[in-house]
Amino acid sequence: MSEKLIIAIDGPAGSGKSTTAKLLAKKLGYLYIDTGAMYRAVTLFAIKNNILNDENKIIELASELDIELKLEDGITKVFVNGKDVSDEIRSLEVNQNVSPVSKIEGVRKILVEKQKQIGKNGGVVMEGRDITTVVFPNADVKVFLTASIDERARRRALEFAQKGQDVDIEKVKQNILERDRIDSSRSVSPLTKSPDAIEVDTSNLTIEEQVDLILTESKKIADKKGIKLEIN
Ligand code: DC
Repeated sequence: MSEKLIIAIDGPAGSGKSTTAKLLAKKLGYLYIDTGAMYRAVTLFAIKNNILNDENKIIELASELDIELKLEDGITKVFVNGKDVSDEIRSLEVNQNVSPVSKIEGVRKILVEKQKQIGKNGGVVMEGRDITTVVFPNADVKVFLTASIDERARRRALEFAQKGQDVDIEKVKQNILERDRIDSSRSVSPLTKSPDAIEVDTSNLTIEEQVDLILTESKKIADKKGIKLEIN
């Protein structure tokens, strides 16, 4: 048995996965893995290489790229072949193309395998769309986060504003709804709530409240499994 938990968090865009998972990982001294960043990295380079309309080339690209996630001062830094692309992967252009790229079965196969490797020894908080269902269906703790569409759009618009990018909230909302639609209806590992995942609606919760809630659940599960959690 692993000495540390695998905590899997899924949910739609803007449901609070990244913020929650990052803080949770920090409190537990676990590794935080943002799997969306991996799909974004492949998308960014597919745009750069002008191969968005060639699935086979995108799959080849996914297998060749060396994607590394590092947490620096509380910020997830994403490096591709040694280059920091953390800001570039959050652009509106990547937002608009990431769902079609992440629908490609061959791309998912490659990234899911990487994610399994990273998390297999436990001590991870991994977030995405298919972590509780496909990557770690046997995760110790499974969480499904939701929030209202207005709240999700508000959070994403705020993220852009904090980076000095002025965006139309209505456009952000439409992009989120479109991504939800593609992510939930694709044939390969769609975004769906695993029946045994704990569902948390974050619309009216503070970050501290949602983290505490998951910590309490994790503690109960860890106790049952005889795993000691050290909470910072
Ligand atoms: O969490 P995010 O918004 O950064 O994710 C970007 C996109 O990547 C999202 O629209 C769907 C895709 N994705 C996925 O298909 N599977 C994952 N495990 C994570 C993200």
